[in-house]
Amino acid sequence: MPAPTRDRNAFSQGKPLWSRAIATPTVEFGPTPLTVLVGQVPTDLRGSLYRNGPGRLQRAGETVDHWFDGDGGILAIHFAAGGATGLYRYVQTQGLQAEVAANRYLYPGYGKPASGPFWKRLSAKPKNVANTSVFALPDKLLALWEADNPHALDLETLETLGLDDLGILQPRQPYSAHPKWDTQTGDLYNFGVVLGRRNYIQLYRSDATGQIRQQGQLPLSRTSLVHDFVLAGPYLIFLIPPVVLSLLPILLQNKGFSDAMQWQPQHGTQVIVVDRHTLEEVSRFETDPWFQWHFGNGYQVADGTVVIDYVRYDNFDTNQWLKEFVTGYPKTPVSARLYRLRIDAAVGKVLSNEPQLDQECEFPIVAPQDVGQYHNSLFYCYKSQPKNEEYFDSIGCLQPDSGRTSQLTFANGCYPIEPTYVPGPQGTDWILTVVFDGNQDQSTLQILPADNLEAGPICILALPEIIPFGFHGTWKTK
Ligand SMILES: [Fe+2]
Repeated sequence: MPAPTRDRNAFSQGKPLWSRAIATPTVEFGPTPLTVLVGQVPTDLRGSLYRNGPGRLQRAGETVDHWFDGDGGILAIHFAAGGATGLYRYVQTQGLQAEVAANRYLYPGYGKPASGPFWKRLSAKPKNVANTSVFALPDKLLALWEADNPHALDLETLETLGLDDLGILQPRQPYSAHPKWDTQTGDLYNFGVVLGRRNYIQLYRSDATGQIRQQGQLPLSRTSLVHDFVLAGPYLIFLIPPVVLSLLPILLQNKGFSDAMQWQPQHGTQVIVVDRHTLEEVSRFETDPWFQWHFGNGYQVADGTVVIDYVRYDNFDTNQWLKEFVTGYPKTPVSARLYRLRIDAAVGKVLSNEPQLDQECEFPIVAPQDVGQYHNSLFYCYKSQPKNEEYFDSIGCLQPDSGRTSQLTFANGCYPIEPTYVPGPQGTDWILTVVFDGNQDQSTLQILPADNLEAGPICILALPEIIPFGFHGTWKTK
């Protein structure tokens, strides 16, 4: 008999309204025509939005130790002639199915060490929660999680088809959650971090079908956490933060990954520049210590220097905030600021590294056609009030050259997720975001004009269930 889920009102009492979105597991729903609440769906908006994120954070009365350990659930919204259909499905991972059958958590994860007798803990493998991002290939959707192979799903129904080796991946070979797609060449770049007897980054270049065609390797001088990278003109660039993972407690299963990582600023941040064509190292150098989860974009300017926009943290306390997120009231102070780093990639030297905005922000993105190229606009989520316990309540667009911003703060108690950029056929582009309204316990899909966020949504669609805050998504044009 499954344990009853906790009460939303009891969980969120005394907490910010956003906590209501994570109080209970997300309820799956099949293809559902979405009701228009405001405006109308643009008639030339055709294609599919896919979003991934932890859909459930508890099972049988137990809460996950870290937000990153929630089981991945996918929201798809298919836009066809003048209307939209939404559905939500959990990724049917082997781990999820075993835990459903057992009605309890069975596996270690990013935050959770293995349990049980010592001999059993030693052989325990973390659960692939498939919860971090999605990438749409021509014939399948990939649900990505950075420490394992991706799962393939049906693009229309979200039926889980199983783990996918993209032609060559070995079982458990990592394929990270931030692939970079060059829309001009069709090349898809990604990486996986391998730690153990040898520490290295495995590099992948795939063709437009997702099939891996080329690999490379970058030795790592420390056991660090590398979540994202940047495609910048002719380069792939990695910033290795001074976060060091102690492997022994992981091997002995005394700690989860999250608690086995230490902030060691004395090491500084290491920059590794790779030639995107040969996948060979061009330069490697050290600079100041900071941590970043995400890059907005990178590109090479005419004089050969490289620009990289990223969200910078002063230290690794963000990991503790993300752990506390599952309580609905995180307390650890963090400072996340959008920065612009300029480097001489060939020589291996930092030229400048400056803040661009004085707002706590995350989830920086650019238009898909700008990835690796010059970008005139960069979109992000931010907090209008710098409160530790609050979640993002605003979406912004920065034009980095001029410093001009266009920003939209949603009504009190309403929280957007990472913006998704949708190129329109007539040059009219849109930003899509899912907004949770904690006053109404209602999630909506909102369509905003990309060139004027301040104008507000041109269309709001009601979603049939609460969609919790997730991580990353993508758009696939029909
Ligand atoms: Fe991410």
